[in-house]
Amino acid sequence: MLLIKNINQVVTLRGEPGPRCGRAMSDLAIIENGAILVRGERIVWVGPTKEVPTRGLDFRYETFDGVGLDLVALPGFVDSHTHPVFGGTRAGEYDLRSQGKSYQEIATAGGGIHASVRQLRAASADQLADRAERYFRQFLEHGTTTIEAKSGYGLSLEEEIKSLQVLASLRGRSRLEIVPTFLGAHDVPDEYRHARGDYIRRIIDEMIPRVAQEGLAHFCDVFCDSGYFTVEESRAILQAAKQAGLGIRIHADQLTRSGGAMLAAELGAISADHLEWIDDSDIEALRKSGTVATLVPGATFNLGLTRYPPARKLIEAGVPVALATDFNPGSCYTLNMQLILSIACSHMRMTPAEAVTAATINAAFSLGLSERLGSLVEDKQADITLMTVPDYREIPYFFGVNHCAVTIKKGNIVINRLEQT
Ligand code: NIG
Ligand code: FE
Repeated sequence: MLLIKNINQVVTLRGEPGPRCGRAMSDLAIIENGAILVRGERIVWVGPTKEVPTRGLDFRYETFDGVGLDLVALPGFVDSHTHPVFGGTRAGEYDLRSQGKSYQEIATAGGGIHASVRQLRAASADQLADRAERYFRQFLEHGTTTIEAKSGYGLSLEEEIKSLQVLASLRGRSRLEIVPTFLGAHDVPDEYRHARGDYIRRIIDEMIPRVAQEGLAHFCDVFCDSGYFTVEESRAILQAAKQAGLGIRIHADQLTRSGGAMLAAELGAISADHLEWIDDSDIEALRKSGTVATLVPGATFNLGLTRYPPARKLIEAGVPVALATDFNPGSCYTLNMQLILSIACSHMRMTPAEAVTAATINAAFSLGLSERLGSLVEDKQADITLMTVPDYREIPYFFGVNHCAVTIKKGNIVINRLEQT
């Protein structure tokens, strides 16, 4: 049993199991000078420190006392969009972009996703797992306790399976919880450049059945954008995925108004991601279908672009909004959700409260996990992060600094940076 007490603010997000829309995104249900009682993997009590129940406490229990430390407790971040299996980084592309080259120009010249495909194919599964495991530790160090993780740099049956098996192998090795997504339709590989229809058939006829049969992914995603997959191609792939029992998510309207958000609404996707180019009719379609708008403003920021997704319009229309990093070696090389909150508040005019909701309960909902994750209430899994700030608004406001002091996953303290000082 673990008692966490004297926490300046316990940001509980008590409320509906999810998702939170409109004004409900601002209701964090904060307990001032709060405490949390954990037994095993679960939270058993949350309330003010002065009301901690003395009856029912085990004879021996561990105490974490935040007195004098100025700490805020939040549900561990749920990062609902990442691409963490890759063989190497692409700092050269970042350098080129700093000199004015665009993401698309670099991709056309052989960089972009294709560069990562070459690196991944050259790497062994062990090398990929070792690299990903190091990143997974850094996710935990920044307060993230669950990630959605995509394949998508293999682009062949063997290499996509290899990527998903790397994720499966890390489930036993890392304390970070991983929700795998198959993204064989991230791009058309070079060897199919003149036969893209054949590649799409292989995705539908070979890859999806195998991934579903072996239980290697919970979701299927498609990069639906100009230069990548069309709406028709994406529809065919996602319908096959749905039939195979996979949930669906879409990279939609990132580079152009591709029709991806409309397709997400049509197919009842749980999440439509990016959405930089959507218009009012797309927003209305997402609202009607109840699809979560997963915004990844770190990609816009890192690519040096100025057109951010219309977060305010989405929230005001009643679309549930989630935030994620989009961690990948090309468009967004960060795994720090705290920084994503800063970008969301400064560039998309989300409030700090909305950003916290988006990064926890709404993200959990988009993964189908909001019954177990995303808020600090009785019976939920004890996934908690303690930040060294006196007020939760300082997490985005004091930006570029890792405020995470302690990360608790399933009731275990897996990171304690206070001990290092
Ligand atoms: O989400 N948009 C597609 N995929 C990634 C970029 C991948 C890459 O450049 O390696 C993204 O931004
Ligand atoms: Fe992405």
